[in-house]
Amino acid sequence: SMVDKGGYPHFMLKEINEQGAVLRNTMGDRIKGEAVDFSKELGWSQESFAKIKKIHIVACGTSYYASLVAERLMEGMLPIDIRVEIASEYRQRSIHLGEDVLAIFVSQSGETADTLAAERLAKSKGALCLAITNGLGSSLAREVDHVLLLKAGPEIGVAATKTFTGQLAVLYLLGIYMAKLSGALSSEEEGRLVKGLLKLPYQIEEILERQEMLKPIAEKYASSRDFLYLGRGRSFPLAHEGALKLKEISYIHAEAFAAGELKHGPIAMLESDIPVVIIAPQDSLYEKLFSNVVEVRARKSPVIAIATQGDSNMKDVANDVFYIPSTDHELYPFLAVVPLQIFAYYIARARGCDIDRPRNLAKSVTVE
Ligand code: G6P
Repeated sequence: SMVDKGGYPHFMLKEINEQGAVLRNTMGDRIKGEAVDFSKELGWSQESFAKIKKIHIVACGTSYYASLVAERLMEGMLPIDIRVEIASEYRQRSIHLGEDVLAIFVSQSGETADTLAAERLAKSKGALCLAITNGLGSSLAREVDHVLLLKAGPEIGVAATKTFTGQLAVLYLLGIYMAKLSGALSSEEEGRLVKGLLKLPYQIEEILERQEMLKPIAEKYASSRDFLYLGRGRSFPLAHEGALKLKEISYIHAEAFAAGELKHGPIAMLESDIPVVIIAPQDSLYEKLFSNVVEVRARKSPVIAIATQGDSNMKDVANDVFYIPSTDHELYPFLAVVPLQIFAYYIARARGCDIDRPRNLAKSVTVE
């Protein structure tokens, strides 16, 4: 068939391993030199974009977590209010919608019923509607004013992986582009981010060369009944995505918390048989995350940390560490998500789960 596993035991593992190539393809001709260019795809001018006063990003599942990561980039660059909503909630609330709203719908398939219904609502109220999807010719792509394609190739594994990184890339590029249109981003800042983005495919491939290091770690914890995932800032939605991957394919109970909330409840649950995955890259929130690692260890829960290469302190405190390369603070989610995906994959494999076709789940949820 046109779509095969390419020598991998599962589509999910194949798709995880395609993420460097997907990023190259997705960014491709949307980057010219050190500048982001969506002029052909969007045709917006500074004047036409000036009427946008609010941005809504609406999605389900993994697409929702990609949207939450991107929100944290966009709000630091754009002088426009941004909110991210779950499609099934958005569509039944009374959120102000009008011509001053840009509504962005993020959906791998472009067929998710709630996302489509949310789009129809926004459109009927006059919002400018944009889809970010892998589904060329999908229902969503046909109905919106603008489409930005992921160009990730077909994703067969029910648990989304390469489309998460693809969505993140399109959302980041779009954020940079909109910040430029608003006159809020200097070309130096743009150049710094673009240079970092262009390095990511190589850095993801470097992580993938070490993917088997996660196998013994996963096997060590594969019989756990519960997992916690902690992150702060842009790593907080990533903690949710890591927990979602584990739930989807291994059926283990996994919960994500903002690390700052640890003291407000979750810390009471900690015991020696509840592993805690902590996303602690070397960004401005690192010191706080490091304190969380110490706090969790003091309650005897094992810590599996995702940390930046060179962070030898983390090895002294955490039980297991997986290192990712150093990048700009804003770009860590692209790298940190990869070990989270692989960790969930190896746990599901150790438990003998049907990784590409997890029970009770559908690749796209076309019923409400
Ligand atoms: C289903 C899939 C998830 C996906 C979600 C949203 O639940 O199993 O992997 O994240 O739908 O799908 P979409 O196609 O709208 O991104």
